[in-house]
Amino acid sequence: MTDPIPDIRPMTAADAAAVEALNEHAFGPGRHVRTASRLREGVPADPDLTLVATLDGRLAGSVTMTPIVIGDDPALLLGPLAVDPDFEKRGIGGRLVRETLTRAKAKGHRLVLLVGDPPYYGRFGFHALAPGQVTLPGPVDPRRVLVVELGDLARSAAHGMVGKARS
Ligand SMILES: CC(C)(COP(=O)(O)OP(=O)(O)OC[C@H]1O[C@@H](n2cnc3c(N)ncnc32)[C@H](O)[C@@H]1OP(=O)(O)O)[C@@H](O)C(=O)NCCC(=O)NCCS
Repeated sequence: MTDPIPDIRPMTAADAAAVEALNEHAFGPGRHVRTASRLREGVPADPDLTLVATLDGRLAGSVTMTPIVIGDDPALLLGPLAVDPDFEKRGIGGRLVRETLTRAKAKGHRLVLLVGDPPYYGRFGFHALAPGQVTLPGPVDPRRVLVVELGDLARSAAHGMVGKARS
């Protein structure tokens, strides 16, 4: 039997508490001190690209996209991505990532960065960078700093200090 197809749509204020609970469960209380979290502090997530997946009205997963800069270039930070353990391994994480990347590209975004597991994110085109290519504002395992270029941007395009989006 094939898995039911989740409804994927932008997150609304009404989803916020359930998404927070999902991320708390997936990443624990330490998540707020991670380097990636620092880039999100005080910066509103992109409301068009921050998505939830629901099945029968129940939150099954979510992905957040936050504007950042890499050097002088605007980019997006993908994460957190979390799927409710009850709904794992049904392709929901993959659908959320592909959908937010498709929407990001349609909005003209060209670079998406995340800190995550290369074996999971490689399937969506994310790849590691050359040593020193980008610098994050805190400790991070460089093997987990991954980027995908959207459109025809060159693979070496991401360069410089990763920082909060300038308002
Ligand atoms: C990672 C996560 C988002 C995957 O969601 P999902 O809906 O189960 O993902 P999909 O169904 O699209 O893909 C499942 C596949 O990815 C694999 N996978 C899951 N996590 C993985 C990881 N960290 N590294 C490598 N592969 C992974 C699964 O084994 C499965 O493989 P299969 O297709 O060969 O069976 C989900 O497990 C989760 O929320 N985990 C806790 C939070 C987390 O780790 N988030 C990502 C940060 S790196």
